[in-house]
Amino acid sequence: MAIERTFSMIKPDATARNLTGAITKMFEDAGLRVVASKRVWMSRRQAEGFYAVHKERPFFDELCEFMSSGPTVVQVLEGENAIAKNREIMGATNPADAAEGTIRKLYANSIGENSVHGSDAPETAAEEIRYWFSDVELVG
Ligand code: TYD
Repeated sequence: MAIERTFSMIKPDATARNLTGAITKMFEDAGLRVVASKRVWMSRRQAEGFYAVHKERPFFDELCEFMSSGPTVVQVLEGENAIAKNREIMGATNPADAAEGTIRKLYANSIGENSVHGSDAPETAAEEIRYWFSDVELVG
């Protein structure tokens, strides 16, 4: 398996509870390396752009409102099988369905306020990294 990069976001419900370090440690402990990281309070427009794929979904407005309600930490994680590994550590979208020991099981408030985002495929990872980072901000 080749070394991959994926895009990860620590959402406003988690930064509000000072969980940035705890969540980042879970990624690092699983062998993923933080090769870019910054704290961003996104605008409503940036949230709508980032989640454009969901714009017809009933939860879109609430999602964009939440994502622009406070700071997030956007990160690029690198490692073997990073995309699948990151999603395994996050757990299922709805914390009620998330496996024991996953970030969402431990920390998510609800299906909407679910603490973390992670890319679901190589194409979306590349797009999402490009949405938030320039090449000079990626430091392997
Ligand atoms: P999705 O891409 O389905 O999940 P994931 O984040 O696990 O890849 O949905 C994107 C986000 O939209 C999700 O993290 C939280 C929000 N969302 C809701 O608020 N309600 C819902 O019913 C769903 C499916 C998602």
